[in-house]
Amino acid sequence: MPRQFFVGGNFKLNPTSRAQKQALVKVLNDADLDLNTEIVISPPSIYLIPLKEIVRKEIKVAAQNCYYKDNGAFTGEISAGQLADAGIPYVILGHSERRTLFHETSEEVAQKTKAAVAAGLSVILCVGETLQERESGATTKVVSEQLDAVVKAIKEEDWAKVVIAYEPVWAIGTGKVATSAQAQETHLAIREYLTKAVSPKVAEDTRIIYGGSVNAGNCKELSLQPDVDGFLVGGASLKPEFVDIINAKKVKAKV
Ligand code: PGA
Repeated sequence: MPRQFFVGGNFKLNPTSRAQKQALVKVLNDADLDLNTEIVISPPSIYLIPLKEIVRKEIKVAAQNCYYKDNGAFTGEISAGQLADAGIPYVILGHSERRTLFHETSEEVAQKTKAAVAAGLSVILCVGETLQERESGATTKVVSEQLDAVVKAIKEEDWAKVVIAYEPVWAIGTGKVATSAQAQETHLAIREYLTKAVSPKVAEDTRIIYGGSVNAGNCKELSLQPDVDGFLVGGASLKPEFVDIINAKKVKAKV
């Protein structure tokens, strides 16, 4: 079975009002979207439930984080089980902003991934290297180490619930997109890693999406790479051009 193309919108700590959230949803609800692509949008947690209620049913909703404990004295956290109970199907885990600004380790990301799949959620698992790591030739090593922790924590069948987002840190929010050759090279390295560390089937079936300054202008070329199965989009997911990114794979009708 070919891997279904996947486009996620990571709104991060945006938008800043309920009215703006409604305007973003209206653009998507009114758009002509390629429904062969799986579409997931990820607003701040306070907007998850109201957004899910107004967005068209073909678009799924993702949390931007969750905790690995089910309940208890963990002020400020949301559990995977609570997300599942609220009907939220996806969660983004291990985003570089969480790893860097909030000091999440790969082990914590792995525990969260384990808790999320156990609760029945699907996970957008983010990995990626810094510029210094890329320039020192350590990209594959860094990404493999980030994935190693998850490989140890979950079972082979759990990978059916995981989409890997390769997001080079130097490309996130910088306007500096990886070339399609750089993206393809690392995506292939991740697939080779999965073949050895998990199984050839998981390597073949797991979607590996690219994130980092994706926009309407560069998405088409990136989407043509054989191991690029979609995108995780930050800044451009808040703009009307997000529709063009969702439609990157759309075959234009012949006139
Ligand atoms: P960007 O963010 O598209 O603004 O670079 C991507 C991400 O952080 O997921």
